[in-house]
Amino acid sequence: MHYINPITIAKQCTCQNQTDIEKFEKLGEILSMYKDEPGSLINSLYVAQTIFGYLPDKVIKFVASRLNEPVIKVFGVATFYSYFSRFPRGKYTIKVCLGTACYVRGGKTLLEKVKKELGISIGETTPDGLYTLEIVRCVGACALAPVVVVNNDTHRRVKSNQIPEILQSYISEVSNEN
Ligand code: FES
Repeated sequence: MHYINPITIAKQCTCQNQTDIEKFEKLGEILSMYKDEPGSLINSLYVAQTIFGYLPDKVIKFVASRLNEPVIKVFGVATFYSYFSRFPRGKYTIKVCLGTACYVRGGKTLLEKVKKELGISIGETTPDGLYTLEIVRCVGACALAPVVVVNNDTHRRVKSNQIPEILQSYISEVSNEN
């Protein structure tokens, strides 16, 4: 039998336009396909986050019940891996690098500037749902430190006074989409 990767199915889901009931139906359908597979817990959480965008309590409880796992165990995995988010994420995730090279070249100052400009702390999302702020410990571009990554864009040798301009470029991108 041809094996269809459940994660591929989840990625094809046009879930953002669906109701919670439809999302739970989709998640249940996918989990039933491979709940007994090795490593199914992490894969299940990946699928759940793909469908819901994040992992609220109700989704964690649903995954636990479908996999016959204790809620505390599922919660533990969801909070252990930084990939998983327990809260809604912004359209853009800003990652300020605080690895050694970036730190010594002003990464901390960049972080403070981003926090000030957006009015949020690490791990938070702006009320308009546009930005989520995170820190990372090296993205492999040390020669170009300090680095700020916004979704798939890596901004190199960033200076503190460039932060407003960088943030504004994404706001403009959203305005142009509307
Ligand atoms: S320390 Fe920032 S890219 Fe390596």
